Amino acid sequence: MQLIIDSANLNDIRELVEYYPIDGVTTNPSIIVKEKKNFLLLLEEIREVIGCNRELFIQTLAVNAEEIVKEANYIRENILDKLVIKVPATKEGIKAIKALSESGVRTMATAIYTPLQGYLAAKAGATYVTPYVNRIENLDGNAVNVVKEIVEIIEKHHFNSKVLAASFKSVQQVHDVCLIGAHGVTVPPDILRLFLSHRATEANVKVFIEEWQTAYGEKSIID
Ligand code: E4P
Repeated sequence: MQLIIDSANLNDIRELVEYYPIDGVTTNPSIIVKEKKNFLLLLEEIREVIGCNRELFIQTLAVNAEEIVKEANYIRENILDKLVIKVPATKEGIKAIKALSESGVRTMATAIYTPLQGYLAAKAGATYVTPYVNRIENLDGNAVNVVKEIVEIIEKHHFNSKVLAASFKSVQQVHDVCLIGAHGVTVPPDILRLFLSHRATEANVKVFIEEWQTAYGEKSIID
């Protein structure tokens, strides 16, 4: 199951890649503009931090299929290695995903709210299908069920797509989609850091050290 960072912030990415088993970085126009940097320069910097073996997901902005394909080709000419082109799952987006996947370009169908959007994206050849968990919940939808049904459609009908769930605002949301079989999650840095935050674990570590030092003083295990 893939674990992706949903951010374009270089400091966050640098820290998380050093400490956690990270498979890649997802961006979108809203995430990019927060960094107030030149688009390609920022992407090159992210590539340098994550190396050439992790996935980098970059989203197109155009609404028309031909323009989406042009933008995808521009991104591919400039950013190398493991690249995935993100395209919103609109009618034009699905047309673009179909064209891109026919020419061997790896894509992610993003901004997905329903199982049938997921089905069409998978059928069009999207490498990744991305339901928006928190945004579905904000519309009173059952996000976990949407993720579960997309996973079922993909697995039952043997599509090659993976479900990479996105749009998380709580650890519980990530926990829920992990359990129902999502193939990956893309998580903002603040939520990812909370995975390991448990008062009991920190208290246990403190007691281990105190008991050791009571017996052996300041000596470490290797002294
Ligand atoms: C990632 O691929 C998505 O673009 C992102 O998770 C959307 O998150 P948001 O709903 O917090 O904007």
